[in-house]
Amino acid sequence: MLLHLPDLLEPARLAHIRQRLETAEWGDGRITAGHQSARAKENLQLPENSPLASELGALVLEAVSRDSSFFAAALPRRIYPPLFNCYRGGGRFGNHIDNAVRYDRSQPNRAEPVRTDVSVTIFLSPPEDYDGGELLIEDTFGSQRVKLPAGHAVLYPASSLHQVTAVTRGQRLAAFFWVQSMVRDDGKRRLLFDLDLSIRQLTRDLPEHPSLLGLTGTYHNLLRRWAEV
Ligand code: NI
Repeated sequence: MLLHLPDLLEPARLAHIRQRLETAEWGDGRITAGHQSARAKENLQLPENSPLASELGALVLEAVSRDSSFFAAALPRRIYPPLFNCYRGGGRFGNHIDNAVRYDRSQPNRAEPVRTDVSVTIFLSPPEDYDGGELLIEDTFGSQRVKLPAGHAVLYPASSLHQVTAVTRGQRLAAFFWVQSMVRDDGKRRLLFDLDLSIRQLTRDLPEHPSLLGLTGTYHNLLRRWAEV
């Protein structure tokens, strides 16, 4: 499932993050790529676990934790701390699939494995600031081209083949992170998300409807059957 999360970052938070990134010391993006994808990757990235990445990552996660659509779609169990990247001067990231397991080293003396079930990219630059820089995601309905307003995000299965096209003008800033979901299978997550959405609509429109009890119970019983916690 590919899901657009509008206005994930509110304007003040977005402006603050962009301003802090303006004077950031970027590193070579290949440091976090696997052997295969390193050959396709030409971008800049904030060093992982650098003080700035941790500070801005916390701001991103605070906003994410308030987004009910994110929660319903990702059903997060663990989150790999957000990373920040910058594409400019023809920078691109060719077709690849992200590593399945990453080790979160944000806590001292500990490397916590995170299975990457869900990927989230948050666009930080307005689309008119740059040419190219589209996120191309292959999903079951073909290739999706994603270029969103600043502060909006896209959530998609981390198992997807994807790429970022060359940025031929301006600069594209983005934040991204991975989620280990309580529900590993994308098809099951999709069913739960659709059911959750319908229950929420019904709750809004017909709050007294007797079927709400049964539907909510079914949602939780499916989650109980499928969730790993
Ligand atoms: Ni990727």
